[in-house]
Amino acid sequence: MPPDTSGGSLAIEVNGLYKSFGDTAVLRGLDLAVPAGSVFALLGMNGAGKTTTVSILTTVLKADAGTARVAGCDVATQPAKVRRAITVTGQNVAIDTVLTGLENLALIAKLRRVPRPKVVAGELIERFGLAQAAGKPAGTYSGGMKRRLDIAMSLIGQPQVVFLDEPTTGLDPAGRHEVWGVIGGLAEQGRTILLTTQYMEEAARLAHTIAVLHGGVIAAQGDEATIRAAAGGAPDLEAAFLTLTGNDAGGGTEDVAGAAGKTAGAGPASWRKESGL
Ligand SMILES: Nc1ncnc2c1ncn2[C@@H]1O[C@H](COP(=O)(O)OP(=O)(O)O)[C@@H](O)[C@H]1O
Ligand SMILES: [Mg+2]
Repeated sequence: MPPDTSGGSLAIEVNGLYKSFGDTAVLRGLDLAVPAGSVFALLGMNGAGKTTTVSILTTVLKADAGTARVAGCDVATQPAKVRRAITVTGQNVAIDTVLTGLENLALIAKLRRVPRPKVVAGELIERFGLAQAAGKPAGTYSGGMKRRLDIAMSLIGQPQVVFLDEPTTGLDPAGRHEVWGVIGGLAEQGRTILLTTQYMEEAARLAHTIAVLHGGVIAAQGDEATIRAAAGGAPDLEAAFLTLTGNDAGGGTEDVAGAAGKTAGAGPASWRKESGL
């Protein structure tokens, strides 16, 4: 885990957020507090509302109720200010596959009116370990390289708060490790990062704070030990997650409070094998 460089102020502050799509209530009173300079992992199953949360915090969607402040600005009443302070990389990589890696970066630097765009592009290519592929069309890159380029592009213009929505979903283990390295590097620089993930190991490795999103609210929040304790003393984060989300072996219940009292089974441990832990 990276050092905690937060100075006490909150980069993201969410209070009582509600969001429905038709009859589907996705967020039902979501609260979050992300200290500036820290890495925060929003952990949730498919469909839990992670992207919905990121979309509201990045001013793409409007909440039905509740408040959210990002970099000190209200997302509903000061969206332009919020947008100037943030960057977001979505679940799908947004790079131009015909342009080279270097050209992609230089283009974004130009669009964001950064001085010396080519120099900035060259620096980022180096920093993200893409120098050897700098002159190749980005469409020829591996999944991990595309994702690294996508994240590098999103950092142009020095955003205060970085949103990464499932940055490693769909990557093979090598690509996942590459992206973890990149995120770890950003964290060491003291950036505020909110990442969403379905992978416990990713959350445990990268984040100072983990929040489990389930049933439209945060079922547990804190470091790994706090999450395990909240799940009734689960042996590991995966077991805790399965308990909190009602997916443990004997589960199927949506009742988080009831499920939290149970001792979870170990659950599938494929992520451990994959990461060599
Ligand atoms: N624009 C939309 N219209 C209708 N339903 C949506 C829309 N966006 C998301 N949903 C629904 O909201 C729920 C949460 O979605 P999402 O935030 O994408 O979850 P996650 O990112 O955690 O997988 C899902 O049931 C999804 O089908
Ligand atoms: Mg999503």
